[in-house]
Amino acid sequence: MNPKCRTVVMIGGNGSNLQAIIDSSALSSLIDIVGVISHRPKAYGLIRAINAKIPTSVVDHTQYTEDAFNHALADVVQKYQPQLILLAGFMRILTPAFIDRFAGIILNIHPALLPKYKGLHTHQRVIEAGDSEHGATVHFVTSELDSGPIVAQIKIPVYPKETAEELAKRVLVVEHWLYPQVIQWFAQNRLKFEQKIVTLDGKRLTSQDYLLSLPATQGIVS
Ligand code: GRF
Repeated sequence: MNPKCRTVVMIGGNGSNLQAIIDSSALSSLIDIVGVISHRPKAYGLIRAINAKIPTSVVDHTQYTEDAFNHALADVVQKYQPQLILLAGFMRILTPAFIDRFAGIILNIHPALLPKYKGLHTHQRVIEAGDSEHGATVHFVTSELDSGPIVAQIKIPVYPKETAEELAKRVLVVEHWLYPQVIQWFAQNRLKFEQKIVTLDGKRLTSQDYLLSLPATQGIVS
């Protein structure tokens, strides 16, 4: 049997995506979550990690300049010797120096249909724009914020009069299925990001491949 993919999850908040990854039965034989790193000492996700007996580290961003933070963070990440790094609610900018050190192995989940709505407050912005659809995206991380190559997306409708909080809840349901799915491909060596190109099963991914649908068993999202 192949050894499991050594995975580090980087968080900053509630950690519901971390929980979905911990709980995924499909992932349990494929990845070993060797560490959870938070940039906030009080992130609830740290408790989730401790409950799951996963080693944790904190690199408190308030104690550093941006460059020094990235340097300290990279050193902590390196100690875990990861083969995969997952950003899951990690709310700090990663510098090119950090990203180059872990080239091709950093994934992020973003609560919007990228390339639309990069950055923060995506749900509110979608509602204010009057969009009829929204969703979540998993992409590889490059030095440009929320702009690395897309791997997969799921769309959901936006309901009339829906609040940003209601919409955020429904997007999270989608995220909790989408992220483990993409992680599974990576851990099975099917998904690669090399020489700036993303391939799945040896075939270059194009925008036609991005859209996935949520299985009916994953709760009501539409
Ligand atoms: C998610 O919406 C994720 O897409 C975004 O930050 C949020 C994190 O939520 N990057 P959680 O901490 O995983 O609950």
